[in-house]
Amino acid sequence: DSAGEAAPVRFFDRYPALVTGFFFFMWYFLNVIFNILNKRIYNYFPYPYFVSVIHLLVGVVYCLVSWAVGLPKRAPIDSKLLKLLIPVAVCHALGHVTSNVSFAAVAVSFTHTIKALEPFFNAAASQFILGQQLPLTLWLSLAPVVIGVSMASLTELSFNWTGFISAMISNISFTYRSIYSKKAMTDMDSTNIYAYISIIALFVCIPPAIIVEGPQLIKHGLSDAISKVGMVKFISDLFWVGMFYHLYNQLATNTLERVAPLTHAVGNVLKRVFVIGFSILAFGKSMTSN
Ligand code: 3PG
Repeated sequence: DSAGEAAPVRFFDRYPALVTGFFFFMWYFLNVIFNILNKRIYNYFPYPYFVSVIHLLVGVVYCLVSWAVGLPKRAPIDSKLLKLLIPVAVCHALGHVTSNVSFAAVAVSFTHTIKALEPFFNAAASQFILGQQLPLTLWLSLAPVVIGVSMASLTELSFNWTGFISAMISNISFTYRSIYSKKAMTDMDSTNIYAYISIIALFVCIPPAIIVEGPQLIKHGLSDAISKVGMVKFISDLFWVGMFYHLYNQLATNTLERVAPLTHAVGNVLKRVFVIGFSILAFGKSMTSN
């Protein structure tokens, strides 16, 4: 056997906790950069439906190129799996667009504060939709987050209802995404699954973007952005924000494959703490609509 091939495999098997830690680190790192770049774009190009399409489009092109070179090898999909993935992808698309409507409307730190309620929504869905009895201690452990988010909302300087309600809808969408994901558990690896979800979600996002933003984009949206920052920066910003969006989501999905869902959910809240911190560093405390 060749030592060259065996070495990385042995490393992955021998230090699983280290590898999982690295996945978390990369997920957070890519997400922080995504959030800062994304908000910079909204500050000169406030079209979240269109930018959401670009995020997914760049990811889909990346997946198609990856499949073409066999890294990873494309796993074949059948109609049964497709049927299971469609609801996951529709919720992914809805949560994605509504998160972005919120990012464009209020401070990044505020959107992520509201999105910290996602585990609370998950718990509510488990108890009231799936009928599972959750222990009181779990509800009590979520209480400080709910109280904290309420206080933050009352004092937030960038507060507006569009930002608040769309972030809440994204919480509901991502809760349904996790419910449908459980039903769609298969043998397929997480990278291939996320590639298929991205493709379906892209098709879901295109019609609302055309209906909601199409006319304004053609009339002045695109030309305004190009006259503000130039064509090269505009295109490269959109390309890079799409790459970071795809890679952080792929890493998040790969991490979920390695840890329990609850660990992943707690990790996602911790991620928001980092994003809130770094976005305040990047944009200042939300005195403006940043
Ligand atoms: C998105 O654009 O889909 C949002 O960034 C999703 O946010 P999250 O991955 O931090 O929940």
